[in-house]
Amino acid sequence: MTASTDALRQAIVEELAAAQEPHQVEEVRVKYLGQKDGAVTLLIRGTDYSALSRDDRRAVGNDLSAIKTFAEEAVRDARRRVETYAARQRRRGIVDLTLPGERVNVGSIHPVNTIQMLLEDTFRSLGFIVEQGYEVETEYYNFDALNVPRDHPARDMQDTFWLDNGLLLRTHTSATQVRAMCKHGTPLRAIFPGRCFRYEATDASHETSFYQCEGLVIDRGVTVANLLAVMQALLVQVFERDVSVRLRPGYFPFVEPGFELDLTCLICDGSGCRVCKQSGWVELMPCGMVHPRVLQAGGVDPDTHSGFAFGLGMTRLAMMKYGIPDIRLFDSGDWRFYQQFPATV
Ligand code: PHE
Repeated sequence: MTASTDALRQAIVEELAAAQEPHQVEEVRVKYLGQKDGAVTLLIRGTDYSALSRDDRRAVGNDLSAIKTFAEEAVRDARRRVETYAARQRRRGIVDLTLPGERVNVGSIHPVNTIQMLLEDTFRSLGFIVEQGYEVETEYYNFDALNVPRDHPARDMQDTFWLDNGLLLRTHTSATQVRAMCKHGTPLRAIFPGRCFRYEATDASHETSFYQCEGLVIDRGVTVANLLAVMQALLVQVFERDVSVRLRPGYFPFVEPGFELDLTCLICDGSGCRVCKQSGWVELMPCGMVHPRVLQAGGVDPDTHSGFAFGLGMTRLAMMKYGIPDIRLFDSGDWRFYQQFPATV
């Protein structure tokens, strides 16, 4: 044993003996065994074996590995000692009122949940019911019943997660449209919020899993004017401010006519950024009048009834409302991200 390792052992023993609390033991551990600049770590790292004779190399190597083991064991013992000491104090009911309180981490509500609650409240107040639908769906409800052609590329392995049993992970909440029509009949005012899945490459605005909120209204004499009125009411509630929207024609097999409702990008205020791909607009919501064939699939007579549907991107809405620049943050599990949102709505 060399003089320097001897002194180190001495210091470790003394400092650990003085530790009363787990965090104090941890401080000693970091001081001596820390990866970056623990004293033992540095000693081991700084030893120049090339300057030593063969025998000395072996001796020094043994000495260094012994001090490391010694320090690790001493820390483990000390930890056990202070932990049982603290536990004993607690059992005895001894409370040291001068100690600082333990910090309790209060969870926060995921921004997509906040949006979902907001949407549910808003739509319920407009007389809509809320249906969950299923994340695992049949090809029929996800595609066939929605008039999606057999050879449509969306059915491709590249876009859809197919399960071994022939079912699939729903690619959109539209899969619940025909289910809801069959279940509730008409008149129908419903939303279907939920998780959707697509097998695609991820970037700042695409994820393999995201949340949509489908809306469906079916009654006698429903027109595009009703669709616009509902959208207007909704966006004012969600953003609590005036926002600009524009309608473009859009194609979806289950609506006719179909539209794309765009919103000025609230992240850059329309000046162009990563999320809006420099265009100043984000696609917020595809929508349209329910296709007669879809009504038929739902047992609704297209001669007497009509309706509209829309597919709100809840994840995208959350990005807009809170100025979140990258969709991948939502499921990142990164506490620093979640912490920024309030614990209550
Ligand atoms: N289901 C479509 C999608 O996810 C969106 C949509 C919903 C379009 C309702 C029209 C009407 O892309």
